[in-house]
Amino acid sequence: MNVQEILLSEYGNASSIPSPVNRMMTAFAGDFRDGYDVNLGAGYVNERTIPRQLIELAYREVLAQPEKYRAALNYGGPHGSHNLIESIRRFYIDNRVGGLTDSILREKEILIGANGATSLLEGVAHLLPPGIVITSDPMYYIYCNYLERVGFRVVTIPEDENGIQTDLLRERLEKLGDEKSEIQCFYIVTINNPTSVILSNTRRRELVEIATRLSRELGRKIPLFFDKAYEDLIHDPMVERPTSGFLYDEIGIVYEIGTLSKILAPGLRIGYLIGDDGPFLRAMIQRTSDVGFSAPLINQEIASYLLDHHIREQIEKVNRGYRDKARRVKAWIEQLLGDAVLEYRGGQAGFYFYFTLDDVETHESSPFFNFLTRSTGNEEIDGSPNSRHPRVVYIPGEHCIHPKGDMVQVGKRQLRLSYGFEDLDRIRAALSFMREAISYCETRGK
Ligand SMILES: Cc1ncc(COP(=O)(O)O)c(C=O)c1O
Repeated sequence: MNVQEILLSEYGNASSIPSPVNRMMTAFAGDFRDGYDVNLGAGYVNERTIPRQLIELAYREVLAQPEKYRAALNYGGPHGSHNLIESIRRFYIDNRVGGLTDSILREKEILIGANGATSLLEGVAHLLPPGIVITSDPMYYIYCNYLERVGFRVVTIPEDENGIQTDLLRERLEKLGDEKSEIQCFYIVTINNPTSVILSNTRRRELVEIATRLSRELGRKIPLFFDKAYEDLIHDPMVERPTSGFLYDEIGIVYEIGTLSKILAPGLRIGYLIGDDGPFLRAMIQRTSDVGFSAPLINQEIASYLLDHHIREQIEKVNRGYRDKARRVKAWIEQLLGDAVLEYRGGQAGFYFYFTLDDVETHESSPFFNFLTRSTGNEEIDGSPNSRHPRVVYIPGEHCIHPKGDMVQVGKRQLRLSYGFEDLDRIRAALSFMREAISYCETRGK
């Protein structure tokens, strides 16, 4: 008898094919040569920003104080560690994060995801009914790819240097007509990934107004999720401090999602959600329980200890590092790539630059990509099969642009460069290879 493959759900089927970025990064990681190939694609934080010694200290302190950090190696509760929740609250108040005050925050619930901000985003997708999610273009491709696999329709609105363009958003909502009723949420990354564009405070307020108006029109709350993954990494001192969407929220639709991945360590897997109590929030807590009871309690307590004792100098240190790197990389971009770059964004926050090249395509079948991954078929460029020249990987714009959005054409000439993970000398080398790749494309007439 012929035995067929295991039957999969629609989501299962969609997930059985690796996403384009996963496929690309896996292909590259397979034979990555440390210190030789350059990975400008990974969204990894810089290893030097991870406070190894402080984490070690925090671990010891937590275990040494069982009266404060109770049963830290046992199961935790799905809401999150009480210590950590209070530490996050204090961190917000002491640093006036988003302009929030004690009285505003006291009215909000804070909950800790099972496995970073990612698990909270997953929870949102699991708990909302299928429909439309509105976000910006370029979009956070990892989550948007997931949303589409679970059956959401992602509608993207182009971004400019101040974030998602609210006038275009209003026009788009108008155009959606009856389909507006299918909108389930807005998902806005406040320091966008891939572009590192910082959502301006004016835009932030407008977004809350737009979502509030839509909620009133449809007669149900349309949540507006602000993903603040990079908001503690604004390293350019000239940038206005972001204000929280809560300050404009009249009807309780704003939720903020934060993470300690970028300022402490992704490996702790601590993400949190702030918002009003209600059926949605309670379902999120149940979801955490369903997928693993809680984030590892020991990690939550370590994070709590670090927030209470060391966070200020840690954030300063992290930002100093990225600020210096951004400055150097920016100078090299201008010096080495010059006119070939029509426009670039980033360098003020987070650790990405996002380029639009003038005349050169960047997608996976482009000569530019082939040159940098040493797969042109020309041995002079690629090196010999046994000793290939250094390869450079980046995220092609086409993976960050929605295929049905307005930016498909320009996306083919865009790319995200991460200056987080690699050291400066490697990044400089990679930019020189990019220069060579551009010259190669020009001589080919492309
Ligand atoms: C926009 C955005 N949201 C969320 C995350 C994931 O955060 P976490 O490590 O807490 O899962 C990332 C990670 O790069 C991100 O870029």
